[in-house]
Amino acid sequence: MSFQKFTLGLVAAFGLPWLLLIAVPFGTTRNIDAPEFDEDKDGRTGLYETASRTGRVANGSEVYGANGCYVCHTQVIRPTNAGNDLWRDAWAGQKNDDTKNGPRESNAFDYKGELIAHIGLTRNGPDLSNVGYRLEQAAAAAGVSPEDYVYQRLLTPRAILDNYDSTCPSQPQLFRPANAFGQTTEAYLDAEGNKLVPGKSAKALANYLLKLKKDDFIPDSINYSRD
Ligand code: HEC
Repeated sequence: MSFQKFTLGLVAAFGLPWLLLIAVPFGTTRNIDAPEFDEDKDGRTGLYETASRTGRVANGSEVYGANGCYVCHTQVIRPTNAGNDLWRDAWAGQKNDDTKNGPRESNAFDYKGELIAHIGLTRNGPDLSNVGYRLEQAAAAAGVSPEDYVYQRLLTPRAILDNYDSTCPSQPQLFRPANAFGQTTEAYLDAEGNKLVPGKSAKALANYLLKLKKDDFIPDSINYSRD
């Protein structure tokens, strides 16, 4: 093999992938404009402001990661050609809610503010992208506050009505024993009947779960599931 052929081979083997996988994507995305609403297509103008995911919600996202929730739960609504997520109202979002957006696919902005995008490893449990709505509905049906419902769910997933065979693991490590004396207003019973109160991380996680409503109104330009 001549030296010239050898050099050309090197360029083809390393130069082309570098160009296509690094240089071109970098050049096209380094100066990307923030998505804007379009008067004609969206009926409103202005910049798209992503849902706020800071403070306790961001802490909750870390608790979610640290306790391995992502191993069984995804947070990604796939396009219809890759799965039937969009047909599941509860997974893909709320139909006819205030946003008038309808169920939509996930996009990169849905994870803004989170240290790690919890797209998840397996779909062992349900997708949690929009679980905030379902938790509120379940709490209303049970006649308790959404927070109460989530704490009890984290502590005894199987005790929730119609859920005796749930494989969602109990998370007692997020709770601490309730004071044996005096009044405790927010104690929850574990499977053995011990009174526990939610710790800091349980509160953050509950906050995070209840705010999981990734179906806010997005500009037409980044909404791939508009039809
Ligand atoms: C071993 C797999 C597994 C792990 C790990 C897991 N879950 Fe689950 N989860 C499930 C399954 C299966 C269900 C469905 C049955 C049920 O409703 O309990 C579920 C249901 C849920 C639901 C109700 C979803 C709905 O649509 O109403 C919530 C909320 C939830 N899990 C939160 C969590 C959180 C928070 C963690 C981490 C602390 C976690 N899960 C870890 C398997 C898992």
